Amino acid sequence: MANFSRRDFLKNSAFLTGAAWLSSSVFGCSSAVTAAKNNGAIEFLHGVASGDPLTDSLILWTKVTPAQQPDAVQLLLEVSDTADFSRVQHQELCLARKEADYCCKVDLTGLQPGRSYYYRFSDSNKVSAVGHAKTLPAGAVSQVRFAVLSCSNYPAGYFHVYQQVAQQQLDAVLHLGDYIYEYEQGGYATERSVELGRALAADNQAEMVSLQDYRKRYALYRSDKDLQQAHASHSFICVWDDHEITNDAWTDGAENHQPNEGDYQVRKLNALQAYYEWMPIRPLVSGKQQSGQQQSLSRSFTFGDLVDLHMLDTRIEGRNLQLDYKHYTDEKTGAFDTQRFTADLTHPNRTLLGPKQQQWLQAQLMRSKAQYQVLGQQVLMAKMMFPSELLSAFSKPGPELVAHIAELSALKQRADQGDHSLSSKDKQRLESVIAYNLDAWDGYPYERELIYKTAQQQNKQLVVLAGDTHNAWASTLHDQQGHKVGIELATPSVSSPGIETYLKLNTAQVEHLADVLPQLIKELDYCNLHQRGYLLVAFSKTQVDAQWYFVDDITKKQYQTRLGHQQSYTASELSALTLASDNTI
Ligand SMILES: [Fe+2]
Repeated sequence: MANFSRRDFLKNSAFLTGAAWLSSSVFGCSSAVTAAKNNGAIEFLHGVASGDPLTDSLILWTKVTPAQQPDAVQLLLEVSDTADFSRVQHQELCLARKEADYCCKVDLTGLQPGRSYYYRFSDSNKVSAVGHAKTLPAGAVSQVRFAVLSCSNYPAGYFHVYQQVAQQQLDAVLHLGDYIYEYEQGGYATERSVELGRALAADNQAEMVSLQDYRKRYALYRSDKDLQQAHASHSFICVWDDHEITNDAWTDGAENHQPNEGDYQVRKLNALQAYYEWMPIRPLVSGKQQSGQQQSLSRSFTFGDLVDLHMLDTRIEGRNLQLDYKHYTDEKTGAFDTQRFTADLTHPNRTLLGPKQQQWLQAQLMRSKAQYQVLGQQVLMAKMMFPSELLSAFSKPGPELVAHIAELSALKQRADQGDHSLSSKDKQRLESVIAYNLDAWDGYPYERELIYKTAQQQNKQLVVLAGDTHNAWASTLHDQQGHKVGIELATPSVSSPGIETYLKLNTAQVEHLADVLPQLIKELDYCNLHQRGYLLVAFSKTQVDAQWYFVDDITKKQYQTRLGHQQSYTASELSALTLASDNTI
């Protein structure tokens, strides 16, 4: 297929104005409905979910599995402010349509701010699990608590992290992407899946490409009781990363998309259609908007006067192809073309968000009145700059690499302490740095700087949340001139393997690496490089508290959880200390 523009994508996507999409109001429905009637039997095998809370509305979701294949299944949605449904505030009939994989999604409006609601779906024979959802608070808000998650890989291990998150008191769960993985049975992170009883479904063992492939993968993941429990307990606010489509996706391609897998744009639409069917996310274009009006996955959530949460799409909407060091390295001589690389890397047109989303974010930051500006997004924003001599060393992972990094860290520590005995060669070793991951914001520095500058100019307290790496990180963000502009808190994976696997390190080695790395990387304050878990972030008027929780084993049903690290930041610490003084980037 020729160039498939975003406009085409929106125009051609049935799910945007979707038949399964229903908007209804608590205030607008007064007639009593007794039961939904269907000819054949149905089952609720995939739980319930809520998401995209606003002060007056919630997305409520379920999926039914009918014995036959009717065009639609009729369901009764009931909403109550009590868990036992002793007082039903709203009921309505809704449809789970075949064309939407029998997913049913209702945007319930007319709700009260900062309130808990319970909901369930049923027909005359079956009733779903009960879900709990929460609307956004309004006005003066004293605290907001999020659990932050990413990278949940079903074949890699048990979803203990979801079970833990289900038990927390939260305002919302933020899932920053890699909610599913596209790989085939036998592919990435499936090594122990058969032994764990978590192999891919028998009819879905190949890499996902078609709409049915993606739908079946969501169905497998959502059969997990821990994931069902997390969804039933909290409202989720989600963004996709690459694996909801395929590895290292960008606007017009992906590392893990080959020509024999068909047209990439068709595959992307398949992936996004299944995403919108299965995730409790508000459709891109609602019935209330003018037809054809474009919306992005990016959207903001206002938690009263305390937090504005801006969810971004750094993957699909506008991302330019990732740069690759090997394209700047002479095959014969090994010489690196620094000048060409730097020119490409820092080009003003180089974008991760795309101009439209970037302008939208800047406008949101400028007009926001909330104390904290929180970016919920996929990839690390902190500068993860390593001495360039490590570039070739990374291709030979193992304990020697850790020793090499430890040596450089010790050297850096001496330099930071003003040790004048450092040789000029050693200084050179430390000063010649390169970005470790060009798929992250380090590969798109111009746009990162624009965001920093906007936050600084507005004197906004910037807190960036990230996933993607499978490991835990905390960093202090600085602009090009070295001014502090905010913090980044990154969540470990739910179950995807981390750096310990890539670098082939045992626990002692990887813990040593986590100890020395913050000495070497200027912006890095903390990291955990080998454990699965989640991040809890609590915002109050006076401070931000971050807690990283880890589970000790995702390959055993019995496990333990521990608080691995906590870090607090005072509100004044987070204030942008210096307004940007010049416009050079
Ligand atoms: Fe991931």
